[in-house]
Amino acid sequence: MLEKPAMEQVRKIIDDWRVRIEDHPLHQWLVEEDDVPPERKLWFSLYFTNFIMYFRELNIYHIAYQGDAGLDAPRAALTGHADEDMTHSRLFMADFKTLGWDDLLGWKPSEVFHWLFTSQVNEQLRRRTTAITKLYIEAQDPAVRYAVVEAVEACGNALFRHTTRLADRYTARTGRELIYWGQYHLERETGHAVEDEHETVFADMELTAQQRKDAVRLAVRAFELIDEQNSHMLQLAQETLSQGGFDLRRRAHAEPSRAVDAVEREGDYQPGAMWPEGYAFNFWPVDPHPTQRPLVEALRAETDRVAASGVLDFFRTDDLDEGEARLRLALLFMATDTTGTPTVYRHMVPYAFPATPAERAVNRMASRFGSRSKMLYVDWHSLGLDERLDWPVSRTLEFIYLDRATETHRDLRAVVTHHIDVTTDPLLRYWTVVALKKMTATYADAVGSLARSIEDKTGRPLPYLTLKRSPHDLVLEPDPEADAIRFDTWAAAPATVDAARATIEGIAGSIFTRYNRMLDSQRLRDYPEVA
Ligand SMILES: [Fe+2]
Ligand SMILES: [Fe+2]
Repeated sequence: MLEKPAMEQVRKIIDDWRVRIEDHPLHQWLVEEDDVPPERKLWFSLYFTNFIMYFRELNIYHIAYQGDAGLDAPRAALTGHADEDMTHSRLFMADFKTLGWDDLLGWKPSEVFHWLFTSQVNEQLRRRTTAITKLYIEAQDPAVRYAVVEAVEACGNALFRHTTRLADRYTARTGRELIYWGQYHLERETGHAVEDEHETVFADMELTAQQRKDAVRLAVRAFELIDEQNSHMLQLAQETLSQGGFDLRRRAHAEPSRAVDAVEREGDYQPGAMWPEGYAFNFWPVDPHPTQRPLVEALRAETDRVAASGVLDFFRTDDLDEGEARLRLALLFMATDTTGTPTVYRHMVPYAFPATPAERAVNRMASRFGSRSKMLYVDWHSLGLDERLDWPVSRTLEFIYLDRATETHRDLRAVVTHHIDVTTDPLLRYWTVVALKKMTATYADAVGSLARSIEDKTGRPLPYLTLKRSPHDLVLEPDPEADAIRFDTWAAAPATVDAARATIEGIAGSIFTRYNRMLDSQRLRDYPEVA
């Protein structure tokens, strides 16, 4: 008897799951002919927005393979499909406007940021979105990635087959067409990872035992995560309907808190120092093993490059009006990174199943970072950004996910995400965090001195930009083994050092590009609202 090609076994498991998710209660509820108007049932997607809009980046950076020219057939097929999928976030924006959700919500820009990136109500969505992203990045091998994409496409197709029926009812009543929720999108979501003509590339693929194991594991995980997400969205949507709309949740989960404890303490921050932020725990590589010294030197070189480039001159001005305008632009450009920081440290950097003291040390390090980000909303308010921008929700979403001027934000996010997840080596995760902290501090130093002078002159609090800290130190239970880990003292293998250097240069380069793009934005007047 002939043995079946291995991909067929993987596809069989995916097809079993395809059947399993078909009748998910969310899907059934969406098409039930009850008295809930179709456009209201679609409210569930406001608990899915940072997946739907992030889907563009996911496809560009983590599903497509880079370097079009030299791609082999499997990589080219997956990349071709990703090129289509990355356009769908715009379809969602079109429907957002058709459905009148800007008026329905009326949220200020700061409320959109808080809802998407820091609110409690969407925390589990962020966890799942991060977990799904990790699956794609772990699946560097196209045979394995194919299985993950196929799983997520199966889920998408199942959802859109059901929403199309809602969209049809909406069109019948209003005469308006929905392109994301309806037929137009469905026609581009076949439920498969690659176009039909490329199916055979994967169908005939022979897999090793390890490839088959990884493909099944990651595909099943993708189904489980989306299944969970569907259940959660069903519950949240029904609660919102029972509350008559989003007013209550807007107050509870979109409006950011303006009461944030922030203090300046002696020794917390030393401007201009190589390791500027003082911590009550081991963090900075102050005692590097000879093998890791080149990494400290790489960071120093990147810092010097920033100083020599003149990019920081932007933050040197004595004029109050000009100084405030520059801080407004800087804060607008920082907002996506800063409000995304808690997700990085809560869901991206830590190991889901730490199995060694070093992995636990990474998790403890991560739990200590990311808490300053909520201060940003205080600065945002002090600088009057909501009033100046006066953007409807859709405009803020475009700013975050689609604007040409913020492309470098997304490049940076992709570089950081990639470097965290492309390896499970704790030493590399440590260096990723060190590079992020050090390079961010290089700019924060310059922004901080301008912010302090503006805070003095205006009397309005700018805790985030002036680098204040929470007065409450996080107290962790002791873990003597993990706390004894000093990553910088390890003898690192040459390949690890090379990978860490690439991480440092990648992150430093992306942050540099992003700040330069901010200077271009000032010249180009991309955002005259804050000028
Ligand atoms: Fe799509
Ligand atoms: Fe798709």
